[in-house]
Formats: sequence, structure tokens, C-alpha cells
Amino acid sequence: MSKRLQGKVVLITGAGGGLGSAQAKLMAKEGASVMLTNLPEDPIIAQSQPATGLWDNAKQTVESIRSEGGQAELCALDVTQEEQWIQAVKHTEQTFGKLDVLVNNAGIYYHAGLLDHTIDKFQQIVGVNQLGCLLGMKAVVPSMRNNGGGSIINFASIYGISGAGTSTAYQSTKGAVRLMTRSAALEFVADNIRINSICPGMFDTNLFESSVPKEAWEPLIEMVPMKRFGKPEEIAYGTLFLASDESSFMTGTDLVIDGGYTCP
Ligand SMILES: NC(=O)c1ccc[n+]([C@@H]2O[C@H](COP(=O)([O-])OP(=O)(O)OC[C@H]3O[C@@H](n4cnc5c(N)ncnc54)[C@H](O)[C@@H]3O)[C@@H](O)[C@H]2O)c1
Repeated sequence: MSKRLQGKVVLITGAGGGLGSAQAKLMAKEGASVMLTNLPEDPIIAQSQPATGLWDNAKQTVESIRSEGGQAELCALDVTQEEQWIQAVKHTEQTFGKLDVLVNNAGIYYHAGLLDHTIDKFQQIVGVNQLGCLLGMKAVVPSMRNNGGGSIINFASIYGISGAGTSTAYQSTKGAVRLMTRSAALEFVADNIRINSICPGMFDTNLFESSVPKEAWEPLIEMVPMKRFGKPEEIAYGTLFLASDESSFMTGTDLVIDGGYTCP
């Protein structure tokens, strides 16, 4: 039986993180050639925020994919920088010959009440989560058009669906990603480019560990009908489906993977 992404070329952002790494591994295992990208350690290239260990995680993920016989490369990409997007797409085409799938996975979180929000923090989170997603779609569309189509997967969140009361700036970006997804899906449907979003529930990754205070964890898990965090692989299988031709009749919609959080 052929692999589910055989012959496809994928570019994924934020691949050094918990969800990004799991997705890159699964897509490579299913036959894709994967261009992993992440915010680099070099502060001159990285203009949005310093990376701490996540670039090294991305390197290790590439090595792990290669050690299992898969195809993977690593490329520095700060998603807030348009010129870096153009270079990353060029580099992917030069390395693997084309680009079929973009996973706009990079994201940052900001756990704070509204009165503690600052203009700088708001602009930073909008820059990475929302503008980064828009720049990514803009950069890959010409390449996908040349290639006869493609699939774009934008990372939204359950926090783009229902209010949480602790992260207004983050929520605004994830709600925006869901609508940007719908708008772009309509715009490029005739080009055979499908654009969908994934809305993860709660996953114990760097994002969660580094920004949500420990005392908030238990009450948050209590709100999940399945009473647990998701596992990164459970997101990766969603991405795999949206990246593959199995989802060929899906565009402009959300895939919610949240243990029932948004059910009530
Ligand atoms: N973990 C969760 O509970 C959860 C829930 C809902 C949605 N999400 C979304 O899933 C996505 C992945 O999150 P994660 O949990 O793996 O987080 P993570 O912190 O483990 O990974 C995020 C990655 O994005 C990278 N990144 C940050 N700023 C960047 C920039 N400017 N340019 C390029 N890369 C940048 C980081 O270096 C990191 O590798 C994010 O969009 C996040 O908002 C996560």
C-alpha cells in the first residue's frame, strides 16, 4: 500500500516545537519530503523573539527523520519577515523541486488578563500568529498555482472558538486565523488550493509549559471532557489528513481536535 503523502513536499513552520516536531515526523513517515523551518537562534535573523532550544529541537527532528530513511531539511524562517518567507519557499523548490503543502504551525501564547496587556505584547503576538500566517499563504500561493494546486493548513485554536478570560490578544489572533482561512479558501478555490485550519485543544508542549502558570493547569484540564491533555500525535494525524488527498472535498473549514472541550 502506498504511503499517504507519497511524493508530496511539505513546508512546516515552528517545527522545533512540540506539535511541529510530531507533525514533521509523521508526514515524513508517510512519504513526504519535509522542509522543517523555525525561528533561528541567530538574533540578527530572528526579529520577533529569541528562540531557546527550539532550533536545536528542529535539528534533532531532522536527524531523527533521516535516521528512519525519511527526507527532511532544515531552514531558518522567522514567520514575521516577508523576505525570509520568499527565500524559504525558493529554497524548498530548489531542494525538493516543488511545494504541495504549507503547515502554518508557528505560534506564541500570552497568558495575561486584559488590563495587563501591553501594546508591544499585542503587536508581537499578532505579528507571529496572524501576520505570519498571512505572509505564509501569500508566499506559497504562486508556487502552488504553478504546481496545479496544494493544501494549506493554518493553526488556529479552541481559543479562536470560545472565550477563555485570560488571553484576549492570543484569542484575537486565533479567531482571525479561522476567518483568514475561510476568506483565502474562497479566493483560491479555482486554483485547486485547499485551505483549512486546525483548532487544537490543550497540549503539554513548550508553549503551554512556558506560559501557563502551573496552578492553572488542573482547573484547565477539568474543563476537558476527556480529562487529559492531547498527545502531539493526535494533532499530527489531523494535519496528515488535511495535507493528503483524502481531504480533497474539504476547504475553508476547521478541524477541531480538543478532547470535547468545545462540545458543551
Ligand atoms: N499547545 C497547545 O495547547 C496549543 C493549543 C492550541 C493551539 N496551539 C497552536 O499550535 C501551534 C504549535 O504550538 P506548540 O504547542 O507546538 O508550541 P511550541 O512553543 O512548542 O512551538 C511553537 C514553535 O513556533 C516557533 N516560533 C515562535 N515564534 C516564531 C517565529 N516568529 N517564526 C518562526 N517560528 C516561531 C517556536 O520557536 C516553536 O518552535 C501554535 O500555533 C499554537 O498557537 C497550541
